[in-house]
Amino acid sequence: MQTFSSILKKPDTKGGLTFIELPFNPAKVFNVSKGTIKVYGTINGVEYRNKLISRGNGLYIMTVDKALQKRIVFTGEDLKIEVTMNLDESAMQGSGKRENVEKHTCDMDVLTAIKTRRSIRIFKSEEIEKSKIQTILEAGFCAPTAKNKRPWYFIVTRNKDFLTNLIKVDAGQSNYLPLACADCCIIVCGDKSIQGVTEFLLEDCSAAAQNMLLAAHGLGLGATWCSLPRASKRNKYACEFYNLSDKVIPLAIIALGYPAEEKEFAPRYDETKVHWEIGEEYPAE
Ligand SMILES: Cc1cc2nc3c(=O)[nH]c(=O)nc-3n(C[C@H](O)[C@H](O)[C@H](O)COP(=O)(O)O)c2cc1C
Repeated sequence: MQTFSSILKKPDTKGGLTFIELPFNPAKVFNVSKGTIKVYGTINGVEYRNKLISRGNGLYIMTVDKALQKRIVFTGEDLKIEVTMNLDESAMQGSGKRENVEKHTCDMDVLTAIKTRRSIRIFKSEEIEKSKIQTILEAGFCAPTAKNKRPWYFIVTRNKDFLTNLIKVDAGQSNYLPLACADCCIIVCGDKSIQGVTEFLLEDCSAAAQNMLLAAHGLGLGATWCSLPRASKRNKYACEFYNLSDKVIPLAIIALGYPAEEKEFAPRYDETKVHWEIGEEYPAE
């Protein structure tokens, strides 16, 4: 781990970058011969994850975006900072670290999948193949995220003790029926140290959750998005059971299984909820 002190300054020009100049060459120190250098560490004790920008001749900077500025309480006045920095090897290995996923495809077109997906809450006892779970996870990993931060972790669990207790905690607060008979569940967690803006964290993870519901449906599986409200006992229980750091928050739990119920397609297009302002009349099609 590298540590250094610096002074964070307001940019010279309006709209300019707020950044930290590194007092060492990270390519040499971290032994990185090519590609983007990704790092994590702390600034005045506040955790960050970021990538470095080369300015040539071994000089590198790290930008400090608005969210991080807020977290380290940088108001624009010169701020003395103590920085720790490590190479973020897992982020740099990226997809290279992934297991080879047996690719499943489906014949359903994307619009049909979106329109016919329904929450399935009753499942058969049949086990879902690991490759199908991986295909569902891959759909989650493909979701769009603010600034492409991909701030998620997915916990795939068949742990009956965990699921039984999760249903009991806060019993009656929500419909956890799907968790009771699911073959397995995916807990979608967001990492605040990767995505510091809470709205983005929720949106990123929700996009991943929706992708996974659609992928499950496309594979002929059933799924239900179950809530894990932030301040609830069950959220706390999930954090404790999986020993999550206080930066990692479980946001949803998706119950998965082979469906034991069928649901009709229910049309939902509602013209009264749409405001058209496109400045022209379309001729009838
Ligand atoms: C944020 C969120 C939380 C939800 N929580 C639960 C839940 O705890 N239990 C449950 O059975 N369904 C839950 N659902 C599923 C909704 O009840 C379901 O999507 C809604 O009734 C519409 O039905 P459909 O999914 O079949 O279209 C949740 C959905 C969302 C998006």
